[in-house]
Amino acid sequence: MKLKRILKWSARVILIALVLGFLVGFIAYWTSTNDCDRKTAPGNPMKAIVHCEYGSPDILKLEDIEKPVPNYNQVLVKVHAASLNPLDLTIRGPWLIRPILGLRKPKDTRLGVDYSGTVEAVGKNVTQFKPGDEVFGGRNGALADYVCALADRGVVLKPANITFEQAASVPVAAITALQGLRDKGKIHSGQKVLINGASGGVGTFAVQIAKSFGTEVTGVCSTRNLDMVRSIGADHVIDYTKEDFTKGAQRYDLIFDLVGNHSFSERRRILNPNGICVMAGLGGAGWHEGFATRLLGELNGYLRSRLVSQKFIAYIAQFNKRDMTVLGDLMQSGKITPVIDKTYKLSDVPAALKYLETGHARGKVVIIVAQDNKT
Ligand SMILES: NC(=O)c1ccc[n+]([C@@H]2O[C@H](COP(=O)([O-])OP(=O)(O)OC[C@H]3O[C@@H](n4cnc5c(N)ncnc54)[C@H](OP(=O)(O)O)[C@@H]3O)[C@@H](O)[C@H]2O)c1
Repeated sequence: MKLKRILKWSARVILIALVLGFLVGFIAYWTSTNDCDRKTAPGNPMKAIVHCEYGSPDILKLEDIEKPVPNYNQVLVKVHAASLNPLDLTIRGPWLIRPILGLRKPKDTRLGVDYSGTVEAVGKNVTQFKPGDEVFGGRNGALADYVCALADRGVVLKPANITFEQAASVPVAAITALQGLRDKGKIHSGQKVLINGASGGVGTFAVQIAKSFGTEVTGVCSTRNLDMVRSIGADHVIDYTKEDFTKGAQRYDLIFDLVGNHSFSERRRILNPNGICVMAGLGGAGWHEGFATRLLGELNGYLRSRLVSQKFIAYIAQFNKRDMTVLGDLMQSGKITPVIDKTYKLSDVPAALKYLETGHARGKVVIIVAQDNKT
C-alpha cells in the first residue's frame, strides 16, 4: 500500500516537473529576442554583417548599424580585414548550443571574431595604443567597418612585416594551434608530432608552430595540399586519400588531431607510451557526415585514456593577449606566415562562408573590409 502511494506521488511529481519544464522552455523560446526587433535608424552609421535569424549563410545581410563609441578602456579600430572560422557557422543555430546562443533567435546578431585594422580613437584610460597604430585581435562582430576592443584584452600591435590580411587570419586559428600544442600537448624540442588536418585554417598554423618548437612534423592532408603543407615546414606528409596514418610503423609523441576520424585504439597504436593526443576538432568547418560519430568517438577516447598511459585531451581555445603577443613575435621573426586561401569583399561574406562550409579550405578565408586602405 505504502509503496503504491510512493509510486503514485513520484509519478505526479515527475509529470508536474515535465509540464513546468515544457512551459518554461516554451516561454523562453517565444520570448527569445534580439536587437533586430528594436531596430532604429543609426545616427552615425557603419556597415556590418548582421543576422536576425538562424539559417544558411544566405540569411546574412550587410546593413547600416550604429558605429560604436569606445569606452574609457577601449580602442576604436577601423577594420581593414577579418577572417572566418568554423565558429561563424553557428549562424545555423545548432540546437545543442541554442541555450547559449538564443533559443529562437540569435542573441548576438553580429558575426566574425578575427580582425586587423588601424586604431582610430582611444579611451581615456588607454595608454598602450594611439590613433594610427596598426593592430590585430579578436572581438565579436568583427565583420564590420569598426570594432571597439578592450585595450588590455582584445588587441595587440601588428608586426610591420605582415599584411592586414595575414594578421586578420591569425587570432582564433593560431591561438587554437598554439594552446593545443603547447598547453595541452606539452610540445618540446626533438619530439615527433603528427598533425591530422594540416592543410586547414588551424592546421597550417599548427605545422609552423610545431616546427618553431624544434619538432619533427608529419602533416596529414589530401593529395592537392601535399606540396603546400611541405612548403610551410612539414618534414613528412601523408596523403589521407591514399594512406591510413594509423596503420604505419612510425610512432609519435604528440598527435594534434583536427579531424577525429580515427578511433581511440587506432590512434593509441601509433602513440608512444607517454604520448598525448590533443583532440582539437572534428574535421573541416560545417556539418558533415560522420560528425556525430566523431564526437562520440572523441568522448570515448577521453574516457578510455583515463585507464592507459597515453593521454587524450579535448579543449576549447581561450583568447588572451599574452598568446596574441607570442603569435605576433613568431610572425615578426618569420617563424610563422599565415596561409591565405581566398579573399572576399564584406558584401560577399555569404559566399565566403559557404566556401568555408565545404570543409576543404586551404589555410584561411579572409574578408577585405576596407578596400581603399593599405592591406
Ligand atoms: N578546439 C577549439 O577550440 C577549436 C578552435 C577552432 C577550430 N576548431 C575545430 O578544428 C577543426 C579545424 O578547424 P579549421 O579552422 O582548420 O577548419 P577548416 O579551415 O575548415 O579546415 C579544413 C581542412 O580540413 C581538412 N580535412 C578534411 N577532412 C580531412 C581528413 N579526413 N583528413 C585530413 N584532413 C582533412 C581539409 O583538407 P582537404 O581539403 O585536403 O580534405 C581542409 O584543409 C574544426 O573541426 C573546428 O571546429 C576547434
